[in-house]
Amino acid sequence: MAVKLYFSEVFLLTAVLTGCVAAAAQTADRAWLRYEKFANKPIPTTYASSPFSSVPLSHELTWAAPGAPQPGVLLEFDHALEHSAQIELTRGLERLTDAEKRPLSDVRAPDEPNVMLFDKVEFASSFRGIKAPELAPEGFWIGSVQAGTKRQFVLVGGSGRGVLYGAFDLLRRMSQGQTLDSINVAENPAMPIRWVDEWDNPDGSIERGYAGRSIFFDGGNVRQDLAPVAEYARLLASVGINGCNVNNVNAAPQLIDSDHIKQLARIADAMRPWGVRLAMSVAIASPQTIGGLATYDPLDAAVKAWWAAKVNEIYTLIPDFAGFTVKADSEGQPGPASYGRTPADAANLLANALKPHGGVVLYRAFVYNHHADWRDPKADRARAAYDIFQPLDGKFADNVIVQTKEGPIDFQAREPVSPLFAGLKQTSQAMELQITQEYTGQQRHLVYLAPMWKEVLDFDLRGDNRPTPVKEILVGKAFRQPLGGMVGVAGVGQNAWLGSPLAMANLYAFGRLAWNPDMIPEQIADEWIRQSISDDPKVVSTVDKMLMQSWPAYESYTGPLGMQTLTDITGSHYGPNIESSESNGWGQWHRADHDGVGMDRTVATGTGFTGQYPADVAKLYESPLTCPDELLLFFHHVPYNFHLQSGKTVIQHIYDSHYDGAAQAAELVEEWKTLNGRIDPALYKDVLARLEYQAGHAIVWRDAIVQYFFKLTGIADDEGRTGHYPGRLEAEDARLTGYKVIDVTPWEDASGGKAVICGDLAPNPGRALYQGTTSKPALSEVERVPKTAQKEGGAGRDGLQPIHLSPEERRTCSAEWTYSGEPGRFNLAAQYFDLQGGAAHFALSVNGLPAASWAADATLPSRRPNGDNSTRKTIPNVELNSGDVISIDGAPDGADPAALDYIEVLPFQSEPLKPRP
Ligand code: GCU
Repeated sequence: MAVKLYFSEVFLLTAVLTGCVAAAAQTADRAWLRYEKFANKPIPTTYASSPFSSVPLSHELTWAAPGAPQPGVLLEFDHALEHSAQIELTRGLERLTDAEKRPLSDVRAPDEPNVMLFDKVEFASSFRGIKAPELAPEGFWIGSVQAGTKRQFVLVGGSGRGVLYGAFDLLRRMSQGQTLDSINVAENPAMPIRWVDEWDNPDGSIERGYAGRSIFFDGGNVRQDLAPVAEYARLLASVGINGCNVNNVNAAPQLIDSDHIKQLARIADAMRPWGVRLAMSVAIASPQTIGGLATYDPLDAAVKAWWAAKVNEIYTLIPDFAGFTVKADSEGQPGPASYGRTPADAANLLANALKPHGGVVLYRAFVYNHHADWRDPKADRARAAYDIFQPLDGKFADNVIVQTKEGPIDFQAREPVSPLFAGLKQTSQAMELQITQEYTGQQRHLVYLAPMWKEVLDFDLRGDNRPTPVKEILVGKAFRQPLGGMVGVAGVGQNAWLGSPLAMANLYAFGRLAWNPDMIPEQIADEWIRQSISDDPKVVSTVDKMLMQSWPAYESYTGPLGMQTLTDITGSHYGPNIESSESNGWGQWHRADHDGVGMDRTVATGTGFTGQYPADVAKLYESPLTCPDELLLFFHHVPYNFHLQSGKTVIQHIYDSHYDGAAQAAELVEEWKTLNGRIDPALYKDVLARLEYQAGHAIVWRDAIVQYFFKLTGIADDEGRTGHYPGRLEAEDARLTGYKVIDVTPWEDASGGKAVICGDLAPNPGRALYQGTTSKPALSEVERVPKTAQKEGGAGRDGLQPIHLSPEERRTCSAEWTYSGEPGRFNLAAQYFDLQGGAAHFALSVNGLPAASWAADATLPSRRPNGDNSTRKTIPNVELNSGDVISIDGAPDGADPAALDYIEVLPFQSEPLKPRP
């Protein structure tokens, strides 16, 4: 049906709509769909001159399994999307134009600009003489046609879905204040699979989620209130995402029992108006675990019949079900290997069941042995995906998509592109990315990931000795496979979707790149900022710059030169813990020893991983002389005095990059401060606190890695920084009352390896909570870590049993230092450990006069003092004279022993630091 919307008529419909939105506590409007009239935005009432031109059309894309029949009901669903488009345009235009301020008599003024919505068939029959651009089913054209004496704006979709995406596109342009006269833009999505994966568990926890509890599940069931789910789907649709897998890849088998399928149908219903199709992760052992069969062998006839019946049951209730995601033979998940079968056998088993209904299987290539022998110089986790999946090329059913993480290890701060993308030429492929920042700062650090993703998408693997950039493989151009795409592990929760305002740029960017991988990260950031924060040019340029510098900064202070993120691999995946990567079977080795560092993955002398790349790329990586600096230690074990292409030695680069990275993190704070008064005050304050925390934690990272490598190598820093911390006064050197000195594990996470604690840490090792949570966990919650998240090793690192302090032990301890430097005004930094299981209090005074007090009440991983929870509190502008006594009183609470590392007397900066050019 064609729908005509007058730009001034829209307010007649909005009372109903705004009512709906207000009812939802967590709305898409609080993300980028705000449609605000920002101060600097001229919303044209009649449109003048357009900057747009047509985007070249890609080939026709299909979504459903090739050859699957399209049930009539799907067409009805498609029409409903046009209705959603109408609703969204109405809502958006009402807010963006002055419609609501205009008197009723203005409605339907004869020359009022309006937009008519059509699908392409409707358009062709309404405007017989006018040819619309060629549109794929999900594509759209926004243009204008002459209707009688009048210009008529038209939005034509390749289908109802295309109309919906076109509506969001039109609103996006208007939200950015773009003028639309003469608009003539046609777009088709580059790839058909544009999904987000949520790793939600039925109990409402989220694996690697950092924004609170699930919007989908609670207490073993689907939540009653699915309003946030509908809002999430709307947000996803606005950037063209068309599928959402709602449960953890470490799949709970009961989610596909008959009762849960009914519940899941409610989720599908909530997302359907926005064209987001429900997908699910399934455990390959389900026929046995919930089906009662004796086997789950993929070649067994009863197993095949079981899956076929299960899939029929799903489609009866969810006719547009998208398909299954599978993690098998990986990190303890059962898989076809139990029966000597291959991933192709397992994938095809499910694909055959799904095919009659149009569903697809996304089979994850994240299959590796996590009990590898670290003493074996040939063992290499990076090889696994290619070794296992490449020989199966051509053996997968045509509705199977192999889903491969962008790098060969696991979402590290930097990895090379997975060679498997060039290894599968007869198989559709999707690239899996992480929007949730598991290894990249867990949303506590600002890390805009689009530049990293863009590097991967643009990387030319040179398959068959010709240009084959990853994006061209995914869109089906390089190897002509029809069902490629991108899958982003999102991890949204009840806490404002991603828990951190600026992290939302990553969700936005993921959708935009999946729609069009040719977009550039700055342009995406610009769009997102204008829609989410402000279109004040100063705000746009500042936040754009901050976003763009954030990933390089994070890489610099966590794991430069391709060492991967030097974090706690066996625990939190958050703070520094360099040796945790070594001497265990997980295979994230960097092989740092006294003489050298890096993993030899060459064909000549190493694991042979470089040989998995097509010849040109293999050659580039094989030699340390041609391997790019940023990946050198991923591919080569070199001595610390090896000279990089930059001319620096490896060790000097390690020192410099950590100091530079921490300085860049500090600059982010100063840059943000320049926006005070220009943006929403609550947003300003919230992000400022996050950035200040990040700047402090970047120093923890810097000092941990620098002191570790200094001790390991004995090689001094050219700049003389190693081991010298001007103004630093260690807690262990203070006059201590009640506090006692402990060794911190790992030693590099504390200055000098020591800290002081008030009370005792219980001796029994336990488990730490390292899932994301919104609030500091009660002690009883600490044990609720999903099994899959408990990796082997690391027993000495992670949390201890709760300590229950007696009333006498609930005392305050103090540490006291005498200042002996020059008189003046200073910033005083206190470095303390903010542990789980309590909220210790600290009070800092000078000569007995209180200067600051604060609670250690953040939600950080681990229940032992270490780099996960080492936190900096800076008290600005403190006057000090030689002989002054600085003291910190620490009051423990619960399992938090008010642990202290040091204080630091720093120059007082009254003016913001000058941002780097
Ligand atoms: C990482 C992550 C796990 C997750 C796994 C996967 O290893 O830490 O929590 O299950 O990836 O992608 O399957």
